[in-house]
Amino acid sequence: MLNFSCYNPTRIVFGQETIPQLAQLCPADAVILLLYGGGSIKQNGVYEQTLAALCKHTVVEYAGIEANPQFDTCIQARDLARAENVSFILAVGGGSVIDAAKFISLAIQYDGDAWDIPTNAARPTEAIPLGTVLTLPATGSEMNANSVISRSSLQAKEAFSNEAVFPVFSILDPSVTTSLPLRQTLNGIVDAFMHICEQYATRDCGARLQERQAEAILSSLIEVAPLLLADPDNYQHRATLMWCATQALNTTLGSGVVHDWATHMISHYLTAHHGLDHGQALAVTLTHLWRHKIEAKRERLQQYGQRVLGLSETSSAEDAICATEEFFHSLGVPTSVTDYGLSEADCLVLADAATADHLMVGEDRDIDGTAMKEILLASLNK
Ligand code: NZQ
Ligand code: ZN
Repeated sequence: MLNFSCYNPTRIVFGQETIPQLAQLCPADAVILLLYGGGSIKQNGVYEQTLAALCKHTVVEYAGIEANPQFDTCIQARDLARAENVSFILAVGGGSVIDAAKFISLAIQYDGDAWDIPTNAARPTEAIPLGTVLTLPATGSEMNANSVISRSSLQAKEAFSNEAVFPVFSILDPSVTTSLPLRQTLNGIVDAFMHICEQYATRDCGARLQERQAEAILSSLIEVAPLLLADPDNYQHRATLMWCATQALNTTLGSGVVHDWATHMISHYLTAHHGLDHGQALAVTLTHLWRHKIEAKRERLQQYGQRVLGLSETSSAEDAICATEEFFHSLGVPTSVTDYGLSEADCLVLADAATADHLMVGEDRDIDGTAMKEILLASLNK
């Protein structure tokens, strides 16, 4: 096992009818910036529940954080927060709203060019505290220190991590996720699945507990996904998915192991240039990256196939990759860029952009623009 230092200060409040606890969880004397997205919380009752809980607090609202939160929108919210002397941010929504809140909480305090924060040109340590009400299980943002901010004018999507932006608390009420469209439920299943793979489908370093923990969450996701699609209002299935997604990226699995993250880095180009949802972009990348890296990943993929997918003792890494594609297809999740209208020429443009960015990712730091080209071309017509 590799050496590690892990830290996670986020309080999770999980279960039905937990949103009223905002009344106690939010500081009484704070000026709260209530941050949310395009309006789903006004259709599923979450907005009313939140305002009812905060009836004795001072609340300033900012609506309109988009999926893949945009830098310019966040800057508008930052300016409002500064003008209103906001001292606490409450993000109510999915990963995009939570990521935006994290960025804004740092940007409020930061005097330099705020784009320095997502690009990691600056690592400020001062942040306004934030809490969340999660409405979409997927990213793990509710219990981690990560944020991903997009800037369409630059076709850029940049990720940063900063311990100052761990949420103080996150309320996870699975019943509010029954209003999710199928597409977003699928995105969530895929994103959680990918987060586990990025920390598990790498190479052996003797971290047996973390391997078993990863396999437990993968097995739970594979078990619950078809049940949930068949019975979308089932609270227990929603609860299982929600806790799986949080556990997939909250520092537990990633401690003491070798990380990959190349699938995520490639997927950011697909989203920034072609607008694929985060989950969609991951699903058209993963298995092609695995084939590209099959020799380095062979041992772990075989283990995954046998322990998680239930393949025979003689099954190969190749069998595990095919079975993974079958699993995604069984949910209706495409694994080819062709399904989103991309051509060979589009793939080449993305690979060129990665080369210009000096992309160099993966557990062996060998996924560059050339490797990305091969992976994306392999994703055509599958
Ligand atoms: O904006 P509203 O109206 O709220 O609608 C949202 C949005 O359109 C809707 N939605 C959310 N909860 C709902 C709901 N609709 C009905 N009922 C509900 N209960 O779903 C749509 C997508 O929401 P979004 O927040 O964009 O999705 P997700 O949670 O998948 O977040 C994606 C973003 O997170 C980043 C991604 O790159 C992307 O920008 N990630 C963040 C990570 C992190 N912080 O650790 C890690 C991830 O790998 C990922 O990169
Ligand atoms: Zn992700």
